[in-house]
Amino acid sequence: MASVVVIGTQWGDEGKGKIVDLLAEHADVVIRFQGGNNAGHTMVIRGEKFINHLVPSGILQNKICVLGNGMVVDPAVLLKEIDFLASKGIATGPDRIRISEIAQLIMPYHQRIDLAREEKKGAQQIGTTGRGIGPAYEDKVARRGIRFVELLEPETFERMVRMILEEKNFYLQNYFNAQPLDAESVIRQYREFAERLAPYVTNVSLVVDTAVKRRQRLLFEGSQGTHLDIDHGTYPYVTSSNTLAANACCGTGLGPKKITDIIGIVKAYTTRVGKGPFPTELTDAIGTHLQEKGAEFGSTTGRRRRCGWLDAVILRNAVRLNGVTGLAITKLDVLDGLESLKICTGYDYRGQILDVVPASLKVMEECRPVYETLPGWAENISGINRFSRLPKSVKSYLRRIEELTGVPIDIVSVGPDRDQTIVIKNPYVRKTAARKPAARKK
Ligand code: GDP
Ligand code: IMO
Ligand code: MG
Repeated sequence: MASVVVIGTQWGDEGKGKIVDLLAEHADVVIRFQGGNNAGHTMVIRGEKFINHLVPSGILQNKICVLGNGMVVDPAVLLKEIDFLASKGIATGPDRIRISEIAQLIMPYHQRIDLAREEKKGAQQIGTTGRGIGPAYEDKVARRGIRFVELLEPETFERMVRMILEEKNFYLQNYFNAQPLDAESVIRQYREFAERLAPYVTNVSLVVDTAVKRRQRLLFEGSQGTHLDIDHGTYPYVTSSNTLAANACCGTGLGPKKITDIIGIVKAYTTRVGKGPFPTELTDAIGTHLQEKGAEFGSTTGRRRRCGWLDAVILRNAVRLNGVTGLAITKLDVLDGLESLKICTGYDYRGQILDVVPASLKVMEECRPVYETLPGWAENISGINRFSRLPKSVKSYLRRIEELTGVPIDIVSVGPDRDQTIVIKNPYVRKTAARKPAARKK
């Protein structure tokens, strides 16, 4: 029985949705364990595109999809997503989708505070998705959050909303000069959500435990990326949850020893949405080329993603922090036609070469990437479905990533569609002969 965790190794949007959808074919249960609708996970099946923000990316494979307790859930967005999927003929009933009774709710004041705070910060803003994620996690930690279990107890819910709104409205009006919220209309709106979502709400740790006991195959879907992690990311330019593989346990109630594989998704170059340090960012024609060819617009907010070369310092950080056992390289086709490619192997900080990400933002901002150059390829690789058929320079680029990270590449993605994927080693198929990982080299 395999329990596989899929996480992003960079700053999000690595293609987690595509890889989770692909692996979900072999899984029984697919579980999201953190984040909320700041995530935008894209799946393309025979040309048809789906972007999920809350429902796990196993839904198109007709698997049981679970929203874990580590998530913050906006019920309005969830219902919209369920309705959209159902309109496409996809099964979205309570036998397919399960929601943790102890997952936190995103409330209208969370989103209002998120937006007001970003506006007030002006140039100092983080560039959040404006979905209320940070304020919802703040309330969780401050022990004034509302969970699904309270949503389903009308009296408790009403009492909590009235009490919390007193404080939130004071903050909104007096600090941000923003509009207050009316308790009665919030209660009315959420009563409707409660009625519709009640059949989906359950004890997720039991769902997970039952699956483990039945020796079913679990697939945990991370959101955001390693460097957006609240502890280990480029703080404060991060999201408000732990995005690392370890949170697959806390965010669902799974015991750590049950995880068997950790797949790190690596975009063949680097992107970032929102503010924050990005040493390999390209503001030249190549950056624009990657942005355009890679269609690098945020799946959630539509913002233009910043683009740059692959950064092995970031990747090594991710491998260490997550205990990555295999890599999935995505968007390799976007590099088609570039004469040469660069990989950052270290950071030059005032003449000293750093090979780990510095904690200080000030140091990070002064870091200059140290590059090595590899040959590019002229071929269009988006139709190639066998590793052996990839051009020589593609193989050397991949080999170099294995060397720099010390982790084998298990999956190579050469286009957005589910079918445009080369699977070298499937974590659910134990018999597949693994290629020998390259020894880690600097
Ligand atoms: P996620 O948040 O990690 O799931 O990634 P997003 O869905 O936000 O962004 C990844 C984008 O790249 C989506 O538009 C995908 O359809 C697309 N994509 C994924 N893999 C590939 C690939 O191998 N090649 C190309 N060209 N696009 C890809
Ligand atoms: P997926 O799962 C890329 C970024 C935002 C912002 C910072 C904080 O699709 O990879 P938040 O709204 O979470 O408080 O914003 O984090 N961010 C993402 N960037 N992909 C995501 O999710 C992201 N979720 C949040 O742009 O910089
Ligand atoms: Mg995304």
